Amino acid sequence: MSKKILVITGSPRGNGNTNTVANAIVEGIEKAGGKVDLVDATELECQAVGCTCCNACQPDNLACVLEDDVSDLVADFPKYDVIAFVTPIYFFSFPAQLKSVIDRMYSLLLHEGGQIFSPLKRIQFAVAAVAGGTAEDSGFEIIKAQMGYLEELIECPATKFFFKGGCSSKTSAAEDAACVEGAEKFGFSLVKNAQD
Ligand SMILES: Cc1cc2nc3c(=O)[nH]c(=O)nc-3n(C[C@H](O)[C@H](O)[C@H](O)COP(=O)(O)O)c2cc1C
Repeated sequence: MSKKILVITGSPRGNGNTNTVANAIVEGIEKAGGKVDLVDATELECQAVGCTCCNACQPDNLACVLEDDVSDLVADFPKYDVIAFVTPIYFFSFPAQLKSVIDRMYSLLLHEGGQIFSPLKRIQFAVAAVAGGTAEDSGFEIIKAQMGYLEELIECPATKFFFKGGCSSKTSAAEDAACVEGAEKFGFSLVKNAQD
């Protein structure tokens, strides 16, 4: 059965470097025979930004009670094999638009007896980050650390990463053949692992 992959982008610049990378990743996924849904987090209608910590999802509701696009998207997360965040790096982390989606994942973490249970446990997460700086100084290391904490919390597989540095609103990743090829290969690898 073909893998189902959700790609969520977080750049407010529609034709920016992030979306170039996202489109190449989608191409790679499709070449590998995966089924992909592409969602732009910056276009989602939301009743509230991020999680309001109302705790209506706890202890066992496992659904966000806010009635908006973000809740609907997050409710669908368990249907996927892979969830890939394709993101610009803003202030050394995810931009607010994408963090708003990530925070709502709280509704899929069941807190019980000091332990966390989540249907996200079986999900393969991936992050493709686009930044002005380098892998070392852009904040990419912080994103890697954040995903590491998530992996420990919900015991999901190790996140897969792709990085494209040296970008700005004046550069075009589309003109960087190595970047586009690398992103496409990354997309391909989300469907076909060495073990598959
Ligand atoms: C608000 C803002 C914050 C940024 N913060 C960082 C940062 O912390 N580290 C970095 O390397 N680049 C940073 N950048 C640069 C962006 O990551 C870079 O311009 C990237 O190309 C944005 O993606 P886009 O081309 O899809 O817009 C920032 C840009 C903006 C607009």
